[in-house]
Amino acid sequence: MVATRSDLNIPGLEAEYSQKSPREILKFALEHFDNMAISFSGAEDVVLVDIASKITKDFRVFTLDTGRLHPETYQFLDEVRKHYGIKIEVMFPDAAEVQALVEEKGMFSFYQDGHKECCGVRKVRPLRRKLNTLDAWVTGQRKDQSPGTRAGIPVIEADSAFSTPEHQLIKFNPLANWSSAQVWEYIRALDVPYNKLHDRGFVSIGCEPCTKAILPNQHEREGRWWWEEATQKECGLHSGNLQK
Ligand code: ADX
Ligand code: SF4
Repeated sequence: MVATRSDLNIPGLEAEYSQKSPREILKFALEHFDNMAISFSGAEDVVLVDIASKITKDFRVFTLDTGRLHPETYQFLDEVRKHYGIKIEVMFPDAAEVQALVEEKGMFSFYQDGHKECCGVRKVRPLRRKLNTLDAWVTGQRKDQSPGTRAGIPVIEADSAFSTPEHQLIKFNPLANWSSAQVWEYIRALDVPYNKLHDRGFVSIGCEPCTKAILPNQHEREGRWWWEEATQKECGLHSGNLQK
């Protein structure tokens, strides 16, 4: 195993792995990167954790606790921690930044002037702090999650949003080609724990004030930041998708 892989031929690997299974992609990632972690938001990323746990006991998971998650999501995070016997590394927002934002604009400024500012404080900057310490990360992004922004995501890419000139960060999206139906088949077939909000019509789950249940035949992304344009529904964690 190696600590950094700036020598990897990313387009070649993408061509080789684009049709492979999530397990094969995750196995490649785990074998080639010591310093890598799965980013886990407590929705359906548990499939990644389940697959990883069947490959090795030696994998890392982190979550961004924005301070605005649903109680069910916190309960689920803890259930996953116990079920798999893993540590979940947690990144919190910078207290002074949250304090300044809330004191200036209150708790719900995103309904007035958009989610970018709050997501910047509560998600993106904590994520950047974490990614600065890693060589690769793994996400649960899928193409069918967001036709406006995710239709073209590769299974392996150089992270255009979080790499720096000194430090190339690799991003794996092993579930890119899976549909929501495949994810849920996996969860049900293997009796994998899931966030209980899914029993109440929630599909794509983020922070509590910015997530709602959807109606039959609505797209899952319609339950996120519903007051904003569909093409802008990226909070900054995956803003590379918007640059493509
Ligand atoms: S978001 O950008 O709109 O919030 P989404 O909820 O679709 O993201 O999740 C896509 C992937 O981003 C997840 O599978 C997970 O890998 C990562 N992610 C999203 N939210 C978090 C979070 N709070 N903590 C860690 N990873 C997250
Ligand atoms: Fe803030 Fe909503 Fe973004 Fe969560 S999803 S960080 S509450 S704007």
